[in-house]
Amino acid sequence: MFSKSFSLLALLGLLQSNLLSASNEVLYNSCRFCHGEKGEVTYLGKVEPIKRLDKTALATLLQSYKKGEIDQIGLGKLMQAQIANFSDADIEQLSAYIASF
Ligand code: HEC
Repeated sequence: MFSKSFSLLALLGLLQSNLLSASNEVLYNSCRFCHGEKGEVTYLGKVEPIKRLDKTALATLLQSYKKGEIDQIGLGKLMQAQIANFSDADIEQLSAYIASF
């Protein structure tokens, strides 16, 4: 009896944590088209591979793009559109994921 309800609780907990936070792959999904599967692409021959950046640098850059504060090769608006719908928590998670490449 006890073990049955315990495993049901564990299952619910699993489902809940999956619903609450998007997976790393889902967050990174749109990025791969320009930055590569593992952040290894030099986009347009100008944007250096993003896998070289650490978590703090990534989070800072992404927050700045979101606010429209940076424009390194004249395509800041394009990057702003990519990151516009990411929450602060999404940006933290995504930055840690890219830094792990
Ligand atoms: C349509 C192509 C495209 C997509 C999709 C895209 N980016 Fe970018 N990204 C760019 C371009 C272009 C720049 C340079 C913009 C500028 O500053 O002029 C850039 C810049 C960056 C930089 C800064 C790189 C550096 O060296 O300073 C980071 C970090 C980054 N993108 C992460 C992401 C992440 C994370 C995603 C997915 C949420 C993403 N990008 C989606 C094109 C793209």
